Amino acid sequence: MDKHTQQQFAENVLQYLNDSPTAYHAVENAVRMLKDHAFQELKETKKWSLHAGGRYFVVKNHSCIIAFTVGDGDLAQEGFRIIGAHTDSPSLKIKPGACVVTPDGYVKLNVEVYGGAILSTWFDRPLAVAGRVIVEQDGRLTERLIKIDKPVCIIPNLCIHLNRDCNTNCSYNKQTDILPLLSMKVEEAEKGDYLLNLIQSETGIAKADILDYELFLYEYQKGIFMGQNEEFISAPRIDNLCMVYAGLSALTELGNSGNSFKVFAAFDHEEVGSTSAQGARSGILPHILERISKNLGLTDDAYFQALANSTSISADTAHAVHPNYSDKHDPENRPVPGGGPVIKYSAAQRYSTDAFSASYFMEACKRAHVPYQKYVNRNDIVGGSTIGPALSSLTTIPTVDIGTPVLAMHSIREFGAVADNFYTKEAFRAYYEDGGSSV
Ligand code: CO
Repeated sequence: MDKHTQQQFAENVLQYLNDSPTAYHAVENAVRMLKDHAFQELKETKKWSLHAGGRYFVVKNHSCIIAFTVGDGDLAQEGFRIIGAHTDSPSLKIKPGACVVTPDGYVKLNVEVYGGAILSTWFDRPLAVAGRVIVEQDGRLTERLIKIDKPVCIIPNLCIHLNRDCNTNCSYNKQTDILPLLSMKVEEAEKGDYLLNLIQSETGIAKADILDYELFLYEYQKGIFMGQNEEFISAPRIDNLCMVYAGLSALTELGNSGNSFKVFAAFDHEEVGSTSAQGARSGILPHILERISKNLGLTDDAYFQALANSTSISADTAHAVHPNYSDKHDPENRPVPGGGPVIKYSAAQRYSTDAFSASYFMEACKRAHVPYQKYVNRNDIVGGSTIGPALSSLTTIPTVDIGTPVLAMHSIREFGAVADNFYTKEAFRAYYEDGGSSV
């Protein structure tokens, strides 16, 4: 695999991360990519007529997307080959009652923390605003995506002179310490309309038409290549949009080729536990798998055969060994950036990997000629979890948890290696393609 190909792929990944400040934008850009590859949109609310060789996708809540292709094989025997990921990232979310005016005349944004953000990394960064608003047009509720790609607010640090312990004892109160400074323009803010005025002037959407919003802050600075040979990426939302992009790329490159039934699912709300109508803990994926089967004429019995013949990959970023905190990791399982996708194990089933699911992923890596690594927590550290356990328990399909190794996971900027993105995409391609050992 030549360096140019890896770099080119990583450039596309970076573009996708930079263009997708929220889950809504990640789905919007996924839709564009799928349509460019002749995938056809299906509505949950409309009748479906699937046919062999078809390429389809379904969007849920504009923050979750499930794409699939109908292969030439017998679905009951082939089963589904599923790759799952998530569209959301830790952030600060704007509350209703968006502006706070202080007695000193500052206008601050009223925000709450979304997911497990490393709050210290959000300080002193120019922040922009993106998300969606709901407007009423001709008696119908319509959604409009918003991206105010300007540095409009900032959370200033308290200077060291007033906070002498800041390098040795740093903690943040989520209510009082993290509200971003937006303006000194008190008059408008006193009317409670500062944010809506900003939206109106930046997007042209009349504030009177806006019924409600879901808006998030994001770092205005874009993701970049770094390192002497540009072998690294420093970017926001690597967790988990790099996995979404790798999955979408594998699926769109292959299309409906071969016998296999390929499914790619990107869920919302992983960072807050996946329990929502569009989260991995919902019925959305089982419903769609059943609907595909019934629509293709499978009987109930054949549908359950298809499930039993299916496999799945849960793709979410993994922890590379930290160069300055190497004792935070297991002594023997020590993934590093650039070493290939990481298979994650947990005896407590915080990751769903077992020997069988790890094996079909390792076989895919071998067929793709890419390296892989393994991760397991130190016994005295609980660690994180991801969508794998939800996917496998809801669908009863074996699932392997994997991901590209990163540092600074859940920082406003995360860090990874160029090579791992391409390796993972290639492994996904090999997994989707016909071949490999059967169940
Ligand atoms: Co993640």
